Amino acid sequence: MYYPDELIEEVRMNNDIVDVISGYVKLQKKGANYFGLCPFHNEKSPSFSVSSGKQMYYCFGCGAGGNVLTFIMEYENYTFQEALQMLADRAGITLPRMEYSKEARAQAEYRARLLEVNKLAANYFYYQLKQPQGRHGYEYFHDKRGLTDKTIVHFGLGYSNKTSDDLYRFLKDKGYEDSFLKDTGLVTLEERGGRDKFWNRVMFPIMDVNNRVIAFGGRVMGEGEPKYLNSPETRLFDKSRNLYGLNYARTSRASYLLLCEGYLDVISLHQAGFTNAVASLGTAFTSQHANVLKRYTDQVVLTYDSDEAGTKAALRAIPVLKDAGISCKILDMKPCKDPDEFIKHMGPEAFQQRIDQAKNSFIFEIDVLKENYHMNDPEQKTTFYQEIARRLLRFGEALERENYLQAVAREQMIHPDELRGLVNRMGMSLGLKAGDSLNWDGSLHEAGGVEWPAEPGARRMEADGAGRRYGRGESEGRYRSYSGDPQGKVRKPDREDGIRRSQRLLLTWLIENQELFEKIRGIITADDFVEELYHQVAVMVFEGHEAGNLNPAAILSRFINDEDQYKEVAALFNASLKESLSNEEQKKAFAETVMKVRKNSLDVASRNAKDITQLQEIIKQQAALKQLHISLD
Ligand code: CTP
Ligand code: MN
Repeated sequence: MYYPDELIEEVRMNNDIVDVISGYVKLQKKGANYFGLCPFHNEKSPSFSVSSGKQMYYCFGCGAGGNVLTFIMEYENYTFQEALQMLADRAGITLPRMEYSKEARAQAEYRARLLEVNKLAANYFYYQLKQPQGRHGYEYFHDKRGLTDKTIVHFGLGYSNKTSDDLYRFLKDKGYEDSFLKDTGLVTLEERGGRDKFWNRVMFPIMDVNNRVIAFGGRVMGEGEPKYLNSPETRLFDKSRNLYGLNYARTSRASYLLLCEGYLDVISLHQAGFTNAVASLGTAFTSQHANVLKRYTDQVVLTYDSDEAGTKAALRAIPVLKDAGISCKILDMKPCKDPDEFIKHMGPEAFQQRIDQAKNSFIFEIDVLKENYHMNDPEQKTTFYQEIARRLLRFGEALERENYLQAVAREQMIHPDELRGLVNRMGMSLGLKAGDSLNWDGSLHEAGGVEWPAEPGARRMEADGAGRRYGRGESEGRYRSYSGDPQGKVRKPDREDGIRRSQRLLLTWLIENQELFEKIRGIITADDFVEELYHQVAVMVFEGHEAGNLNPAAILSRFINDEDQYKEVAALFNASLKESLSNEEQKKAFAETVMKVRKNSLDVASRNAKDITQLQEIIKQQAALKQLHISLD
């Protein structure tokens, strides 16, 4: 839904940033600003600042910054829409209702009703757990599975009792009709009447990221088939998208998520302090799951069961995660079966150790591969090494391949030179050139580079060091800044980057300082900022200064739909020049930057000139610029 800028502005202005952030972070006033410990990275001394004047926050440690809306988006992991809604509620502002079509309204009401029923059922199951008839269920959770009362409440665990239609009757009493109840997946309709789907099971409500119950899982207490029974998919519940525990994990401050298989794995991990655990609940991990995760993290530690099924599931999940741009490591659970068992037998510290030792997914894959070979048979051993070499050839980037080569060599106790020799020989025999790599199906991925080095250990060359994708999403973009060339010299930074930097600098100075703005009036206009994003900001900054009401937080709101953009704009507004331009050097730097930006803008204009008259005008201005002297005194 599209909201007008004025409305967004109204919501923002009615939520004072210091007030809002104080609800999350302990702030202390220091001078004009407030300081506290940054909620976006781990730190011991406060570098997180909130400016009441600018209505913005900025962390000098990690560079996080923005206005009250982005704070809520980042902290709560909300979408813009959700953050706006929350802050509107907080300020008592009613957002206009969506313009629903009749059909859309019916759909929304249907969903709301499903949510309502699920909530009622969750409360009902929880209530049953606390009744004498639920004693059995409570004991199962508490005594058998070691869950505390606090954990039981936190996850809303419950019990479906032995009566076969009590939930059905309970819901009927609340006024729900059969045709609707049948859709909820909580009951089945038979000739004799409605029957509960869940019967004599301990119950796990499944919540969406907004803590709303959307489905249930029920486990038999002890042995029995099926061990788990789950709600069918409904308008609310999509198995291939939903991750159990994500409603809590998304606000954990860890930089990675733990991905496991089952309900009780998640619950045990959370109880032990690993509140960043989620599970894909028995279904295969899908690309939709990965895309959901990607909203919250780009690092996952796989903590699947250590049995064969778990290993297979991990091998399938790895490429799915990588394709979504998530890097993953694999935790070794042995000798335990799953995280729940591990925590019980080995404790949280040991689990943390295992997280710290988790293996890179490539190394893990090689480990698994090894099980197919008898290593004391020389022929099989050779085939195994060849397979390693083939897999190493999937890395088109020489440096990356070398890093993996060394890691595998270490892990498998092969001499790195031997492995390198093998890789190079295989590369040559396959006709690979530097930068080429093998696709996952073994076909050639050509990068068009120079000849493969003949000698093992000879200088390996890069066809192009800039951000290419290798293999199948393998470490995407990690070597973006690595710019080697065949001579081994590091490429000079792009000239374009220098210009960009000048524009950025100038813009930050102008934002900070009305006086400077007055100095360059008539020399520079917003149009001299040719970089698109800076131009947009410059237009608003210039307007703000002209009208004498520059409003950083409001300007930032305009970019809120694009995370990369608002982060960059937030940085512009916060990278303040430490002192005013008092000393000579700074004055000189400012004058030079102004000239650079203006000169570049004229250069661009001259390249784009449409006719002779335009060009002549530009040349005149270029000449004038040469004569210009900017004085700050
Ligand atoms: N699962 C399921 N249906 C089954 C078996 C399993 O939906 N018949 C899902 C459940 O979400 C379960 C997960 O797959 O949590 C992992 O299954 P499993 O490892 O067998 O169970 P655990 O989670 O280890 O459960 P428990 O510790 O209670 O045995
Ligand atoms: Mn288990």
